[in-house]
Amino acid sequence: MADMLTTTSTILCTCARNIPPILRLELEALGYVVKAEYPSGVEIEGTLDDCLRLNLWLRTAHRVLFRLGAWEANTADEMYEAVNSVEWDQWIPAKGYVSVIGSVDTKSIDNVMYANMRCKDAVVDRIRTVRGIRPDSGPDTSMSVVFLYWHDESLMIYVDTSGTPLSDRGYRISSGKAPMRESLAAAVVLSTKWAPHLPFVNPMTGSGTLGIEAALIGRKIPPGSMRDGFGFMHLLPVDPRVWQTMRKEAIAQVDAKIDLKILCSDNDIRVIRQARENAKRAGVAVSFTVADFREVTPPAFAQSHTQESDNEHTPVVIMNPEFGIRLGDERALRTTYREIGDLYKQKFRGYTGYVFTGNFSLAKEIGLRSKRRITFWSADLECRLLEFELYEGSRIQYPERSGDITP
Ligand SMILES: C[S@@+](CC[C@H](N)C(=O)[O-])C[C@H]1O[C@@H](n2cnc3c(N)ncnc32)[C@H](O)[C@@H]1O
Repeated sequence: MADMLTTTSTILCTCARNIPPILRLELEALGYVVKAEYPSGVEIEGTLDDCLRLNLWLRTAHRVLFRLGAWEANTADEMYEAVNSVEWDQWIPAKGYVSVIGSVDTKSIDNVMYANMRCKDAVVDRIRTVRGIRPDSGPDTSMSVVFLYWHDESLMIYVDTSGTPLSDRGYRISSGKAPMRESLAAAVVLSTKWAPHLPFVNPMTGSGTLGIEAALIGRKIPPGSMRDGFGFMHLLPVDPRVWQTMRKEAIAQVDAKIDLKILCSDNDIRVIRQARENAKRAGVAVSFTVADFREVTPPAFAQSHTQESDNEHTPVVIMNPEFGIRLGDERALRTTYREIGDLYKQKFRGYTGYVFTGNFSLAKEIGLRSKRRITFWSADLECRLLEFELYEGSRIQYPERSGDITP
């Protein structure tokens, strides 16, 4: 088994669309060399041990996939033969449970469920042949997970070392209205000009995801340290003690001293209660108060920090208002978006302001010229993170509300 842990193979870290450039930076910061970047994933080389480390540290990835083989396959029978040639008895417990997920787009298959089922048969048949019994199988991805990639004739088989997607950190049991996925919130925070010594103000915080992710980043808390379950825990070559040691060592490096100024608020007391619970479970101290966003003021210490800030880093105020697509009445929201612009302009000079929205027509109501527009996808909805420079005093002439945003 030892050689399986140290054998190097391709590791594909999957993520949401448009996240790969951020995920690449995360991987490079962890010391990995990126081999390829795809629309929804980034590829590196590494061992199964590396997969454990990536599950612990990656904030913007969804899954860490470890490749077991690559073949050419044109028919379901060829795929079955290739998958059946893998020594699954060395990977998946015969008394365990296996699920097959993946991405299939090949001429001979018009039913992805069928491809997944044949792939699952190939796995469990191999185990039954060698061990005499076969694992159970089904849709539950909280145990052993096999990932089938089959596009045209290119067939690749991975073990999914994450299982449940990494965006489910485990701290958010209660969530407010239209909560942001944790991995998306982390990507948004990492795209801002915030640095942990500077204020991070988040009115309309909802379940507190942006504030909690900022706190995890600020304290260098590994996002995977809160989860109980990962796919790798159901793979035979993985020694649970390796994970326990890795997790313990990472937690020992948490920056407990840094004085974070993360101030979140919402006008709904119920979601603030939930956000407090979520932060408690995540083990971070974030200030959550009940407040209408129009009443929010920058923290008193902001001025000195503003002076410390450089071009790259500034204090940040960020809001994720309702989009009016699923929630909220669009007409009323026009006023809300206008008032967000007013708040930023009048009270948050010296900050960089951000609005995350999926409604580009409402975004125009903010009435400030955006310096940057970053595209994200929230499920199937195209969204923008709009960045506004809120200069001190007279350094900028704010334009009239003229719809000058072209998201
Ligand atoms: C789209 S949700 C934010 C979701 C959040 N990013 C999350 O991850 O949970 C918008 C939030 O704005 C809050 N909100 C709406 N109007 C508000 C107001 N006038 N003042 C403060 N908060 C408000 C709602 O209660 C809701 O929680």
